[in-house]
Amino acid sequence: MRQHARPDVAESFFEVVRRRRSIRKYKPHDIPKEDFKKIFEAARLAPSAENSQPWRFIIIRNQKVKELLAKPRFQGRTFLTQPFIANANAIIVVLGDSSVSCCPRATWTTRDPLIATEHLVLAATALGYGTCWIANYESRPEEWIDEVRTALRIPEHMHIIVLVALGIPGETPQPRPRKSLQELCFDETYGNPIDLS
Ligand SMILES: Cc1cc2nc3c(=O)[nH]c(=O)nc-3n(C[C@H](O)[C@H](O)[C@H](O)COP(=O)(O)O)c2cc1C
Repeated sequence: MRQHARPDVAESFFEVVRRRRSIRKYKPHDIPKEDFKKIFEAARLAPSAENSQPWRFIIIRNQKVKELLAKPRFQGRTFLTQPFIANANAIIVVLGDSSVSCCPRATWTTRDPLIATEHLVLAATALGYGTCWIANYESRPEEWIDEVRTALRIPEHMHIIVLVALGIPGETPQPRPRKSLQELCFDETYGNPIDLS
């Protein structure tokens, strides 16, 4: 047994990772402040380049604002709607601060907040909440982004990185397929199979 190994902690961690699904249906329920605190504490502890911690989070519970974030749009000729976003108990707007980040021109402004986002998603899963990453707003018209920035008073140097819908799961979806470890991991050089059996 490795000196610092904690099998119980490791098993709980993997259980949370296995249990997480993208949830797109929620039961109406307020999320207690203590749970928000734990969820954001997990995000706060995430690693970042030069420890710059360029993430910021806005918690949206106001129904009108949720509807603004869920607003349908055209993509090419397709009409896309994600009404479930408005039914989430809360939406977390994840921001990246380009003025705080160690490399404002590089992609760390985006990468670090994404790491913190997965921390908060896993913490929410551990607490029994369902989450769904929402990145589809990226292809939305500039006017919509401006409307959101104005409504949420997001300053110029803050980039909207992603949204996360959060709430009590109202569905239990099956796991979605994943590639095998053989397809993903190589031994020393790219493409060289690794034996992880
Ligand atoms: C960066 C990112 C963006 C995503 N954007 C959306 C989205 O806009 N709408 C949506 O319904 N799901 C979105 N998802 C969820 C993915 O579709 C989902 O993670 C994937 O299909 C695997 O399913 P699972 O999360 O249940 O394991 C996004 C996930 C990630 C990581």
